[in-house]
Amino acid sequence: MCTAARRWSLRAIFILSVPVLFAFAGFELAAAQVGQPEPITEEADKMHDLYLFVTVIAGIVAVAVEAALIFAIVRYRKKNDELPAQTHGNNAIEILWTAIPIVIVVILFVASFMVLVDVEDEAPPEALTIDMQGFQFQWAGTYTLKDIGPNADRAAEGAFTVRGLAGEENEPEFLIPIGEQVEFKLHSEDVIHSFYVRNFLYKLDVVPGRNNSFQVTAHTLGTFEGQCAELCGTNHALMRFTIKVVTRQEFDQWVAKNIADGQAAARQPDTAR
Ligand code: CUA
Repeated sequence: MCTAARRWSLRAIFILSVPVLFAFAGFELAAAQVGQPEPITEEADKMHDLYLFVTVIAGIVAVAVEAALIFAIVRYRKKNDELPAQTHGNNAIEILWTAIPIVIVVILFVASFMVLVDVEDEAPPEALTIDMQGFQFQWAGTYTLKDIGPNADRAAEGAFTVRGLAGEENEPEFLIPIGEQVEFKLHSEDVIHSFYVRNFLYKLDVVPGRNNSFQVTAHTLGTFEGQCAELCGTNHALMRFTIKVVTRQEFDQWVAKNIADGQAAARQPDTAR
């Protein structure tokens, strides 16, 4: 290639790469916010903050590396047939570009580990526990009276199960009280499912023969969609449910109603509707 043409193609690369670089950095930061589910638990807040923190560091590294690369390509491109000054090794630079990534990795490790410890924290024994059973193809959540929350009567008898049936109109709704640690204990009756609530920013596999569990403290009232996130068979897509975050008072009323309904159903003879 003749020198003039080469110079022009290099110039074109340089001119084009500047807006691309800025667009990339901007896009990365914007994408970190746009399309993210709104975190509704204390654990989700921490995960979201960690995600933004990592994205910012990644953005800075990407821009710095690309800028150095483009600068070197343009500044030190071949200008004539003379051999440029030859250098071999530079201890200062070697140390610097080994130390910087180590520092970054250590910062990311510590930040991630701190969030992990909070997210994987175990719920206290008195926390509300929901025994969540995954099956082909829906969920069944069992609430036990003696394990209904910090004020539960430990001698109380009784439990009720909210059981979904495949089909949009039969999706189950599981209530949890706001501002309280709630533990989900996950079991599977058949194959591997995955318990996923978008706004928890969290999902956990539901594995036959294993007792997986996690805890959340919800801080936002509302109804939030959940679904099975592991392809588990023909009607995997029907394994949808909702989590409704309510006040403790509303939750207690709902529990009382479910217990009463269960007792009424038990008194009815089989012939009755
Ligand atoms: Cu259960 Cu997919």
